[in-house]
Amino acid sequence: MNPALPAFRLPLPADEFLSRYWQREPLVLRGAADGLDHPEPDLLAGLALEPGVEARLVRGSEEQGWSLQHGPFSEDELTALPERDWTLLVQSVDCYLTEVSLLLDSFDFLPAWRLDDIMISVAGDGGGVGPHFDRYDVFLVQARGRRRWKLGPVCDPYTPQRDAGGLRLLQDMPVTDEFVLDPGDVLYVPPWRAHWGVAEGGDCVTWSVGFRAPSAVELLERLTDTALSRAPEQLWTDAGRPTPDSPARLEDGDRQALARTGTALLDDPSVRAEALGALLSEPRQASLDFAVDMGHILAGGPDTALVRHGGVRLVFQDGEQGPELWLNGQRRVLARDETDLAELLARKRRITEAELAEVLTPGGEALLEEWINDGYFERA
Ligand code: SIN
Ligand code: CO
Repeated sequence: MNPALPAFRLPLPADEFLSRYWQREPLVLRGAADGLDHPEPDLLAGLALEPGVEARLVRGSEEQGWSLQHGPFSEDELTALPERDWTLLVQSVDCYLTEVSLLLDSFDFLPAWRLDDIMISVAGDGGGVGPHFDRYDVFLVQARGRRRWKLGPVCDPYTPQRDAGGLRLLQDMPVTDEFVLDPGDVLYVPPWRAHWGVAEGGDCVTWSVGFRAPSAVELLERLTDTALSRAPEQLWTDAGRPTPDSPARLEDGDRQALARTGTALLDDPSVRAEALGALLSEPRQASLDFAVDMGHILAGGPDTALVRHGGVRLVFQDGEQGPELWLNGQRRVLARDETDLAELLARKRRITEAELAEVLTPGGEALLEEWINDGYFERA
């Protein structure tokens, strides 16, 4: 087994990737990832047996028709799978297997809050989820075996889709590009771009690094909830108002002043910091139940001093009272001597002794001890 930890290297300057491809164009990156031998298919199948783990089993093909089942699955169901035409997909593997989450440190050409999760699929020969589009960016990292990817046009909400045994598939996907990915190859697919991956040969494992893009509804909901929790009971006042030209009308000046009274808190920087810090630091799976496999991490990274549990999401930002760190939806206003440590912890999941030594102060040490006791971090 290759003991290397999972890593991805963008083989072009980050500026060029961001300006030409990110959210715009697909890109094949040959040999850009490494350290993907673990987890083996059996371990992934084991995760799909656990209640609380989001897992799906897709069977079939365009010729036979499709079926979608949701986990948790029984061991008998998974061992009875045929040779071909199935895919088992396990969501948020980074939360359960901390060593998998370390791949996310390689995506530091994007802000950490933009990362969502790592889904891993295992497929028999011919397995795939059919022609579809996703609404978020994805890096599809081939870990084992081979997968043929077909790309189609850019879709939109009106692109015709069909229900195929519970899957939302495209009515039609004219193929614009086609590639076969070998282990270590990566395909970046922007949102809305039609794609379809089919395993060529069995034992096909693909990691999908997915990104988080909150909707306007989600953002407005969080901003208004936070604003409402701070809104004063005080009623509208208009002492010294001018005589109205037309008492029947809601005049422009009143309309603007009323609307401003209602929305002023939405523009308040501290409301924004609280609403967005809480939203963006909420983990997909709020559980620290899965142990950190430190033996595995040390085998691939002997210089490891500290690891963040895969179920922890951090957002570092400037708040009303200075820098603050949001950890799984909870705010910590930082003392001056905790700030460098907090910034490092939010930036990297695996931290070396040298990196830690550079930022550790007595205050930082106490904070780290607290978070280690809470299970958010683990010392090597
Ligand atoms: C897969 O890993 O089989 C599917 C991933 C995707 O198409 O988004
Ligand atoms: Co997809």
